[in-house]
Amino acid sequence: MAEKIHIHARGADGVPHRFDAAEGMTLLDLSRTQDIGLQGKCCGALRCGTCHVVVDPAWAGRLPPASEEELDVLDCLPVVAATSRLGCQVRLTAQLVGLVVDVPGWKPKHAESADGGVVITTPVAEPAGLPAPAVPV
Ligand code: FES
Repeated sequence: MAEKIHIHARGADGVPHRFDAAEGMTLLDLSRTQDIGLQGKCCGALRCGTCHVVVDPAWAGRLPPASEEELDVLDCLPVVAATSRLGCQVRLTAQLVGLVVDVPGWKPKHAESADGGVVITTPVAEPAGLPAPAVPV
């Protein structure tokens, strides 16, 4: 059984949002069920770059190196950082529990935690035709 791990994603507000994931998922897999702002237009085929994330420098060295194909896609993006990666290529492992990434341009929908620290986000995918759930305060 896959181990549960968590990561933190920061959007335009700079606040870390905690997400729980199963070991073995990619960041793009995670974004399919929860809003971490990755579009993933090519579904991980290394053709679009819409899954761009910037890995916190404290974590960058813990990820396996990017492949030549990933680097080629990153080279085509207008703005990248030294620790930029493609979310479709970042596979979550037990070694990455607590990983922190920035998602350029992401505007999170979230509920602040009671202690003002890490916030828990709500899934974006909601059944069609139903009103959005109330956000707890
Ligand atoms: S989803 Fe297209 S390159 Fe990652």
